[in-house]
Amino acid sequence: MAKINSRYQKVSQGYFSTEIAKRAKPFLDSHPGAEIYRLGIGNTTEAIVPSVIEGLRKGVEKLAKTETYTGYGDEQGDSRLREAISKWYAKRAVSVEPSAVFVSDGAKSDCANIPSIFSDDAVVAVSDPGYPVHREAAVISGKKVVSMECLEKNNFMPTMPERADLLYICSPNNPTGTVATRKQLESFVAYARKNKAIIIFDAAYSEYVSDQALPRSIYEIEGAKSCAIEIQSLSKAAGFTGVRLGWTIVPKELQTEDGAEGMLNRFWSRRQTTMFNGASNIAQEGGLAVLSPKGQRETHEQVAYYMENARIIREGLSAAKMTIHGGVDAPYIWLQCPRGLSSWEFFDELLTKAHVIATPGIVFGKGGEGYMRISAFGHREDVEKAVHSIRKNFGTIA
Ligand code: MLT
Repeated sequence: MAKINSRYQKVSQGYFSTEIAKRAKPFLDSHPGAEIYRLGIGNTTEAIVPSVIEGLRKGVEKLAKTETYTGYGDEQGDSRLREAISKWYAKRAVSVEPSAVFVSDGAKSDCANIPSIFSDDAVVAVSDPGYPVHREAAVISGKKVVSMECLEKNNFMPTMPERADLLYICSPNNPTGTVATRKQLESFVAYARKNKAIIIFDAAYSEYVSDQALPRSIYEIEGAKSCAIEIQSLSKAAGFTGVRLGWTIVPKELQTEDGAEGMLNRFWSRRQTTMFNGASNIAQEGGLAVLSPKGQRETHEQVAYYMENARIIREGLSAAKMTIHGGVDAPYIWLQCPRGLSSWEFFDELLTKAHVIATPGIVFGKGGEGYMRISAFGHREDVEKAVHSIRKNFGTIA
């Protein structure tokens, strides 16, 4: 008789976006005409920029003619795109060989699947609070998970684990909006090298960093190629949350206790060719357009638009004497719930009084209790109205 994977019972019943939708439903159903400001899930809302739309169209057009039609693509992703990714890193003084690049359908699946190339007994360290995919995928796959506290007393930086084989580090951080400094990343690289551990660096929000002193790639840190895998996404950088495209860098130099050089790169290739047939060729054509000079200019302008939203939220709520963190070089604002309310209690109040949907910090782990994550990915008008409404209902206007 078939048996279930009981590890699914160790994670919450629904993914956090499902839980939020369920919790909001009774209010939304009973207030059909209410204007609701959705700053919960980190979902982009602005149209894809013109040069990238052109790229996507080109991808569609190619499929319309036998001479340019393509079916299955290159195993690790379109070789032109992998070259372009390597050059994109080179412009940032980071050297990444195209053979280390694996094009994907976005960061989420790679974050969830990458532990499968490591041994079953690998201990996985995840931030608490942290992006739920890191913890939940590791739990579902049966790996032992340990938490790295990410609390205010440590400036929301993960505390070094006593023992871990894999460490998920996300910077700029989802959910706290904290950005790791060079020094902080150097200490993680030193830890990984000393313990022969591997860092899984989730760089999905790197394009939100404008402070030149802050690293946007783990490979800006000396020695990182021997101990870090980097996962990137165009979801937030180019509005590809629905298009789906990203990449993962698995350097051949990675060191493990028992594997020869290049083995993890080979295993990831084996995993992907067996269980994934590559990103859509249309999306990859769009990806090439994102990395073109015009695409970079236009997408960075869009990032600046969302960062202006972040400024409006940050300054608006601080001026109303609310306690907030993040939102600088990161599109998430980490708001402390007033009056000692729990995250879900404040979620209900925010929704019913201010008509704002935000994400309760507790969905990111117990260290997130007492906080709310506010996303800067809304339309400007909604963001302004949401800030006004939160201030009116919960702030002390000085
Ligand atoms: C979020 O944190 O809201 C994410 O970007 C959505 C997701 O889980 O993929």
